[in-house]
Amino acid sequence: SSNRSIEKERTLAIIKPDGLFGNHSDRIKQVILDSHFNIAKETVVQLDEESAATFYAEHSSKSFFASLINYMTSGPVLVMVLEKENAVADWRHLIGPTDAREAKITDPQRVPDQLSQNHLLIVSSALSIRAMCGLDLQKNCVHGSDSNKSAEREIAFFFKETSSDEAVANHDEL
Ligand code: PPS
Repeated sequence: SSNRSIEKERTLAIIKPDGLFGNHSDRIKQVILDSHFNIAKETVVQLDEESAATFYAEHSSKSFFASLINYMTSGPVLVMVLEKENAVADWRHLIGPTDAREAKITDPQRVPDQLSQNHLLIVSSALSIRAMCGLDLQKNCVHGSDSNKSAEREIAFFFKETSSDEAVANHDEL
């Protein structure tokens, strides 16, 4: 319609098991909303091995694959469709580097010594979501689609786009 002049881009975000276990969801959602994303859809699911392996199929030959699948099925995940202009790139930027240890590296020039511990936390949070709540390469708190093509596939994987009753992925909605 005429009042929908700007077509928003969509990306898929996942708060991984460590993000949910650590009770980081509310803070992460606040950062998402503060960063002008619209949360268009969301669902909490428990992935089974088969659906996690399908979702991460492009990494099936990697040494870390079994570990990644084991981790991603270790507890529920919160899956969201995020909407904004330039959503794919902006979300990847907001989550930060894959390795959360790298995400936490602050430029010492930007963190004056006299700042309190609270201020340091705020400065660190501002860097990225993985800096805020991730731990390492595996427990990095969140996922983001790496391209528009991946975003389309990943959104269709979790969310039915039609009225069909057919399940798109073999996982249980919680
Ligand atoms: S790659 O090889 O560059 O394509 O990998 P990368 O994009 O960095 O990471 C892809 C996803 O795999 C996870 N990952 C790991 N899990 C466990 N152990 C190790 N060593 C490891 N390295 C990478 C990483 O968290 C990425 O998950 P997503 O959900 O895509 O962010």
